Amino acid sequence: MKNYTLIGPFTQILTMAGLPLKGPLSDEQLPILENGGIIMMDEKIHAIGPYPEIQAEANLLNAENIHIQSNMVCLPGLIDAHTHICFGGSRAKDYALRNSGKTYLEIAKSGGGIWDTVTETRKATKISLIEGVKKRADRHLTHGVTTIEVKSGYGLSLQEELKMLRAIAQANEECQPDLIPTCLAAHMVPKDYQGSPADYLSEISTLLFPILKKEKLANRIDAFLEEGAFSLSLIAPYFEKAREMGFDITVHADQFSTGGSDVAVKYKAVSADHLEASTEIEIQLLAKSNTVATALPGASIGLGCNYAPSRRLLDAGAALAIASDWNPGSAPMGNLLLQAAVLGASEKLSNTEVLAGITFRAAAALNLKDRGILQTGLLADLIAFPTKDYKEILYQQGMMPPSLVCKKGKLAVG
Ligand code: NIG
Ligand code: FE
Repeated sequence: MKNYTLIGPFTQILTMAGLPLKGPLSDEQLPILENGGIIMMDEKIHAIGPYPEIQAEANLLNAENIHIQSNMVCLPGLIDAHTHICFGGSRAKDYALRNSGKTYLEIAKSGGGIWDTVTETRKATKISLIEGVKKRADRHLTHGVTTIEVKSGYGLSLQEELKMLRAIAQANEECQPDLIPTCLAAHMVPKDYQGSPADYLSEISTLLFPILKKEKLANRIDAFLEEGAFSLSLIAPYFEKAREMGFDITVHADQFSTGGSDVAVKYKAVSADHLEASTEIEIQLLAKSNTVATALPGASIGLGCNYAPSRRLLDAGAALAIASDWNPGSAPMGNLLLQAAVLGASEKLSNTEVLAGITFRAAAALNLKDRGILQTGLLADLIAFPTKDYKEILYQQGMMPPSLVCKKGKLAVG
């Protein structure tokens, strides 16, 4: 038996349907359905359209009814395409040190940074990691985020990376947002590894990759390409192997220096993330490729540095996603909507460009074709804000949370 639910009327529904994946978007292009309704069938959208028509169809289907009493603007559930929300410990001391003048790379070199979180994450039990992920995922859900990418990368050994990825898989079973796992065993060269960086990568790709496939723990492989992490030549055989085995590739690229987005494009990565250091060369390279350029304003805010050149990327024709990078080091805030709104104000992005970056363009960064747009047959992941004008959503800069969140057709908030 199928379960049908009618939801509406919404003052406005921003379907995000029919917009191009790449390039600039003006607010005139934003698809707005006034006085709209949606019929959800189990996990999916069965129909969407003008409320009177949708209501008539819902009556014929004997649908349940979630009646919206006040003005609300509905849009697809938000997608956070880059996070590190599985971790132990805190890096408040790094934050204080940076604000006293030390750089991210200096702190990393003197024993703090990612390695500090690796030490804390290795000490943490799998159960406490699961609880931490669930707590952060649930908070994200209240902000309207219904799909969250979650990286490993604080284990940095076969067993500890497996502990993290199994914890993420278990948390996914127990929380409402969908968690999309990514293996970031190439986050940095583990300080306690008894061998060369090349040996480490070869061990991970030979021993860990097959287990990821067998246990379905991750279908995405990420690497941090940077001084103090991995060089471009070291990562080549690692990415070759990942591609041969059918993994999607994503890259931490051009955060402090360039080179990463070049590798991302070469290996047909689904996304190149960070890009704060990208120059015109990298912008053109990404714009001509099918790799989604993902800006991480939370890391710029956390590190007090410049944003990825988002306006220029869009104008050059790139697909721009916006993600939180929520992690204990560079991006502790974890508020996607706030960060996307602030990026929009700084980089002069239209409402449509910002909303695209956290909905269907973020879905593309994760190679997910079943969400990010409100359309028949796609997942019924939808959120609604208590306003009659969609422009209020970004104008309120994250301080107006959605009053309704539906995840896969079920009311999660509201
Ligand atoms: O995306 N840049 C490298 N990795 C993370 C930071 C992780 C950390 O500092 O713990 C990032 O910013
Ligand atoms: Fe990151």
